[in-house]
Amino acid sequence: MKKQITACGDWILDRLAMDKVWNQHMAQYYAPKNFNFWYFFGSLALLVLVNQIVTGIFLTMNYKPDAKLAFDSVEYIMRDVPWGWLIRYMHSTGASAFFIVVYLHMFRGIMYGSFKQPRELIWIFGMLIFFALMAEAFTGYLLPWGQMSYWGAQVIISLFSAIPIIGDDLSLWIRGDFVIADATLNRFFAFHVIAVPLVILLLVFLHIVALHEVGSNNPDGIEIKANKDKQGIPLDGIPFHPYYSVKDIVGVGVFLFFFAAIIFYAPDMGGYFLEHDNFVPADPLKTPEHIAPVWYFTPYYAILRAVPDKFAGVIAMGASVFVLCLLPWLDRSPVKSIRYRGGIYKKALFLFVVSFLSLGYLGTQPATDTAILMTRIFTVIYFAFFLLMPIYTRWEKVKPVPTRLTEQPSLEERIPAIVDTFNEVTVKKSITTAEGDTVIKLRPNPSGIVTVLIRFLKKLKASLD
Ligand code: HEM
Repeated sequence: MKKQITACGDWILDRLAMDKVWNQHMAQYYAPKNFNFWYFFGSLALLVLVNQIVTGIFLTMNYKPDAKLAFDSVEYIMRDVPWGWLIRYMHSTGASAFFIVVYLHMFRGIMYGSFKQPRELIWIFGMLIFFALMAEAFTGYLLPWGQMSYWGAQVIISLFSAIPIIGDDLSLWIRGDFVIADATLNRFFAFHVIAVPLVILLLVFLHIVALHEVGSNNPDGIEIKANKDKQGIPLDGIPFHPYYSVKDIVGVGVFLFFFAAIIFYAPDMGGYFLEHDNFVPADPLKTPEHIAPVWYFTPYYAILRAVPDKFAGVIAMGASVFVLCLLPWLDRSPVKSIRYRGGIYKKALFLFVVSFLSLGYLGTQPATDTAILMTRIFTVIYFAFFLLMPIYTRWEKVKPVPTRLTEQPSLEERIPAIVDTFNEVTVKKSITTAEGDTVIKLRPNPSGIVTVLIRFLKKLKASLD
């Protein structure tokens, strides 16, 4: 029997050389040996993509893309379909998880200069994935046909009408009707379920093919292909399989822990993952008091609101995403990784992150005078990070880059320091229970927490110099 199975396997391999593909992309794909936890987010993005597709298929089995039935069909999935609530929460939490994972994945790229030559195309494919992901999230959000679905789509589609001359016709064309209606829901369904996912899958394929052509970057930003042994294997490389395929499972475990915790204990995440108004059926005659997009769009929405003129606001909002595509050409630094850059880049990146997060928060808040003023300040910092980049990256003094990957302390080596920090921030207290037993409980130690925080801030400051 074993012989027949082997012969059958060989017959297939002679016609479809999957072993060669496996070797080229897994067992003999040499990745730098110093990947840290930031390198988990690429594989996690793949995991979330699979989660979205699988749960999406099951949702589609009971969802009705009809303006009269859509809201009720989602309620039916939640209440009557066996495990429907789990499938739906996996999908809705997965949408936010996708953006969290992808934002961290992009941030890693910016930190280690992974967009720089020769990886420009990986970055461009990544940006195209990001645009497609935004389209996927936007079309998906209309489907439950709740108040926020309806009015959120209304606000975004009406932005197109700000475009001179063609604006009104364009938004009519997108809606397929004079108001958001059944025709809009039907076309959004088609895009969300088949068109955009196909584009995303194709782009992810190209993203990885492009990555495997030039090879992965790493936290040192050194090209490992520059130092090879006699067989042509990079001296600082290790086969992706089994080393990183196994390591990535650790990342998957940690991710699933948080993912499950949200699904089971806080699926709406206080109104951030599922907005409260979306539990009310869409009503074209009643505008919700406060319309805000889902959290992952709020930084760009804040930029839109920061500009007084509607059309200029739309341009600024588009530019705030598009400018990321230009990163490979805006960055003139001779080094890739943040480890060897000067203090100016580190401070600029820090300010950029603060302004991105602040814009995200301000985008969820009502547009008061103070909120608008703060939004304008952070919008200026956001754009300054990119537009001044050709100047400050060229000017600043960088550190010498080693020719080989550097050694970083392993997790085992770090464990004693982690244990010490844990002991510092906690204190053991003996407590007498109602039954009169004495139990030892761990409690936070305020002075220890302050000491650890000060040490952390000092370290952060030192790393910025
Ligand atoms: C569905 C979304 C995405 C998936 C599934 C995905 C997948 C991956 C995977 C598996 C890797 C290799 C592992 C790793 O380096 O972490 C990778 C690398 C990379 N990705 Fe993505 N990615 C996605 C979106 C993006 C986006 C939006 C960007 C940026 C605009 C991006 C930029 C990069 C870059 C620059 C690398 C090379 C990193 C390096 O070598 O240091 N990716 N991606």
